[in-house]
Amino acid sequence: MRTFCSHITITQTDTTVTINGWVDRHRDHGGILFVDCRDHTGIVQLVFPPEQPDLLQQANELRSEFVIQASGVVKQRSPDTINPALQTGDIEIQVTDLTILNRSNPLPFSHHEPIREHTKLQYRYLHLRRSDMQQKLRFRAKLTSLIRLELSNQGFVDIETPVLTRSTPEGARDYLVPSRTQPGHFFALPQSPQIFKQLLMVSGFDRYYQIVKCFRDEDLRADRQPEFTQLDVEMSFVSEADIQDMTERLINRLFQELLDVTLPKQFPRLTYAEAMNQYGCDKPDLRNPLTLVDIGHLVKDESFEVFAKPAKLDGHRVVALKVPSGGSMSRKQIDDYTKLVGKYGAKGLAYIKVTNLDMGIDGLKSPIIKFFNPQTILNICQLVQAQDHDLVFFGAGSNSMVNQSMSALRDQLGLDLSLIDQQAWKILWVTDFPMFDKQTDGQLTPMHHPFTAPKQVDFDQDKQPENWLSRAYDLVLNGSEIAGGSIRIHDRSMQMNIFDTLGFEEEAAINEFQHLLDALSYGAPPHGGIAFGIDRLVMLMTQSDSIRDVIAFPKTQSAACLLTRAPATVPNEQLEELAIQSHSNTPENQE
Ligand code: AMO
Ligand code: AMP
Repeated sequence: MRTFCSHITITQTDTTVTINGWVDRHRDHGGILFVDCRDHTGIVQLVFPPEQPDLLQQANELRSEFVIQASGVVKQRSPDTINPALQTGDIEIQVTDLTILNRSNPLPFSHHEPIREHTKLQYRYLHLRRSDMQQKLRFRAKLTSLIRLELSNQGFVDIETPVLTRSTPEGARDYLVPSRTQPGHFFALPQSPQIFKQLLMVSGFDRYYQIVKCFRDEDLRADRQPEFTQLDVEMSFVSEADIQDMTERLINRLFQELLDVTLPKQFPRLTYAEAMNQYGCDKPDLRNPLTLVDIGHLVKDESFEVFAKPAKLDGHRVVALKVPSGGSMSRKQIDDYTKLVGKYGAKGLAYIKVTNLDMGIDGLKSPIIKFFNPQTILNICQLVQAQDHDLVFFGAGSNSMVNQSMSALRDQLGLDLSLIDQQAWKILWVTDFPMFDKQTDGQLTPMHHPFTAPKQVDFDQDKQPENWLSRAYDLVLNGSEIAGGSIRIHDRSMQMNIFDTLGFEEEAAINEFQHLLDALSYGAPPHGGIAFGIDRLVMLMTQSDSIRDVIAFPKTQSAACLLTRAPATVPNEQLEELAIQSHSNTPENQE
């Protein structure tokens, strides 16, 4: 009977075992051959002593990654040959029988050296043999099992929703699938199951969940993939507090059981306005202690227009960012930070170095002091509670420019000055998001999705939709958005009102969302929900650098699969069947 490699222990000394696996390394020590055999549990050392020449000859054929079955006797290693780095380092197997089950070409890379990203993805099935990759995917499987256990205990029903469907807007482009049976018509792959889960609430399922693939054709980054997995949840007759309570119980259980980490029972909450004010972003990493402090009221009457002008303008702000002990920062470092904020449109990065506060204004060094009433500068230092040897940076301009540039600066300082405890977990809710984003052309777009309920809006009275708040909430872990949701609109006329505010013609809205609008007129219960980014959560919990590391077969930055070479061209006949003509489908690029 088969034993797993790393399950063999010293208690089995002198018994016979059989193992299956891959040759990890092999070494010849003056006639004795040592082979490390690997399976998904780990490694065990096989020994082929010179006394059995036939066996040794067979073993000499072994090369890296050959697949073998070996039987032999478990032997205790002598004290000087014990390998403490190996779980089975105190034993070895003296082989009596060897079968080569399959041979392997030399690998395109070594398991014991760093691999190029392109090679990793092209030979993904080989990269997945590495124990770190195995551990990550096994961790992910444990996490999804635990989620299913917890949610079914809480009375949630797991229901699948269609993949071939109509557009479900979540702010990205759709992946389209042409219909053969209805030429010229297309399915869209779901950006999320948002509308279906709302329809399930209208059907009376009350508590739904699904671990589900979502598809979004958007610009990719380290924490985004074109197809990714959500834990999607919806509940009826609930308020924000019920959904947050369910989430806190679930996340607490996952952290406790999988990482032995105790998170706060209730997660801290910040409103969107508070988050933007203090951190300049709506997913702040609270492991970083730096904060932004508004100083507009102190500088608005000064003659230094770089600060005074934005301090007096609506939609603009002036902030200070104190860096404790930052006074020793070099000119070059400050220039680099000035370049960083410049990427977001800041024309400069004013700063003050505090050398000795007892000397008043003479104890400060800064290129901008000369433009100010000295008392104003001292008031700023007092407001940010600056101490000797600190440095204070400033950002002034439009809210969006200051928030983006100063939050990027805050993140960079956090990394450069090692202000972030990499072992810490900081989780928080961000609530009270605005309903809409206003684009530069004045067009409104939903900040979450157009089915999110507004907070107490009087549509007849309140004519400034850009100021309306929504009943949406995001869950943020260590600066990453791991979940987002909202209480939904369950009233048809309110839903029409929101479509109208977004600039949809009535007929177009009814055409696009008829199925939802109809359902809302047949007794839709009040409902709300949330969706978690499983890949992002697993990436953070396994301390991985990219979500690619926790997805078995991920795509590249340009949304391609290097393993299967998808997307690919298709023969013209197939396109004709779908009533499609491709401009780029020339014979030379057909496969
Ligand atoms: P949202 O668009 O915020 O909400 O998505 C929910 C969570 O999914 C994750 N996520 C992604 N992960 C990897 N790659 C991507 N491209 C990607 N896009 C999103 C994030 C995010 O927090 N239907 C709503 C949920 C609801 O209202 O209930 C929705 O999809 O972690
Ligand atoms: P200037 O008048 O452009 O020479 O800028 C005077 C000082 O203000 C310099 O130290 C600049 O780095 C700084 N500065 C310019 N624009 C900004 C801004 N938007 N935010 C913060 N500091 C700025």
